[in-house]
Amino acid sequence: MTQQFQDFLSKRTLSMRKNQIREILKVVSQPGMISLAGGIPAPETFPIEDLYRINETVLNRYGAAALQYDLTEGFTPFREALVSYLGAKEIDVSADEILVFNGSQSVLDTLGKVLITPGDTIALETPSYLGAISAFSAYEPSYASIATDDEGILPESLEETLDRQRVKFIYLVTTFQNPTGRTLSAARRQQVAEVVKRHGALVVEDDPYSDLRYRGEAVPPFYTYAPENTVYVSTVSKVFAPGLRLGFCIAPPLIKEWLYTAKQGADLHSNTYAQALATEYICGGYLDKQLPRIIELYRPRQEAMLAALDANMPAGYRWTKPDGGMFIWVEGPDGVDAEALYWKAVEQKVAFVPGKYFFIDPADGLPTMRLNFTRAHEEAIVKAIGNLGQVAREFASE
Ligand SMILES: Cc1ncc(COP(=O)(O)O)c(C=O)c1O
Repeated sequence: MTQQFQDFLSKRTLSMRKNQIREILKVVSQPGMISLAGGIPAPETFPIEDLYRINETVLNRYGAAALQYDLTEGFTPFREALVSYLGAKEIDVSADEILVFNGSQSVLDTLGKVLITPGDTIALETPSYLGAISAFSAYEPSYASIATDDEGILPESLEETLDRQRVKFIYLVTTFQNPTGRTLSAARRQQVAEVVKRHGALVVEDDPYSDLRYRGEAVPPFYTYAPENTVYVSTVSKVFAPGLRLGFCIAPPLIKEWLYTAKQGADLHSNTYAQALATEYICGGYLDKQLPRIIELYRPRQEAMLAALDANMPAGYRWTKPDGGMFIWVEGPDGVDAEALYWKAVEQKVAFVPGKYFFIDPADGLPTMRLNFTRAHEEAIVKAIGNLGQVAREFASE
């Protein structure tokens, strides 16, 4: 790439993280490759037939208003629809408390803009969602990694960090986390909430996956344990369509005010037409019909992957068994370099994401990998895990 204008780039730009996994995932589009690398919904989950009707209703009901400039905080009928959607999750808010953004990714970026002064510390669970690290890094923070186990972050590790230093916020994906699939247990939510309240700290709870539950009881959002200390972030991307780019948040009043101001300067408001479609998708009963279908599509894919891992992975490998979401996290024995294993797997037509990219210090995640189970069909998943197991066994004997 030409270096012309290099010295025009801002200091902030130079601190941005390039998408490091894009290079290694270029091979994913090779013919015959079974990709477990993506993190995107299966296209079969998009309600294309229903959208003909939804479109018509939107045009009849809202007409020009669905095509007009609108409020920065979001299309009022959409925020009203979200009140009942969130109520079902025990989040009790009014439409005025909700801000709509272009996907939850845009909430993360705007939070970075509003909250981070260069050098501030952000606390992250280990490992963490790569897209959040990319969004925050543009604002030049440093990071503190909080230790986790199978139930999510360890309250004592968080407490130790908060005792030691000032932390601007703690970023958590609380349910069916990306990349591990882990869920912060209800007991842990309570303990973490106590730590957070004791320190007057702020949590950013990113919750795109909790609706994708295949078994077990729902856990109330962390927000419900500490509403005054939490920015709750979610999206319609996993239950409707990510291409609409609609996410939203609830934030403490002062932070909400500045998020509003920052959004106004950035894009005035989010796509009115997309918000009108999502309103009708929720209020017209389409979400209630579609969500069970999405779950019924993903559950057998996940079960197929878990059974295939049991049948094929050599001793020393362990993996998460989430009750929902889109990912399974595999940890190999110490000494395994999952990126080297990745290139062997690619030769056998299987791709995944080496887990080290989700760590602030990649050395902490060398033997880990993230597997997605929502895109490929069951037979392809079984074949892919069979090949992955074979590669892992050959790797162990080298
Ligand atoms: C944890 C997490 N947060 C945010 C996002 C971004 O989603 P959206 O489509 O709402 O921008 C994703 C997307 O995969 C995600 O996994």
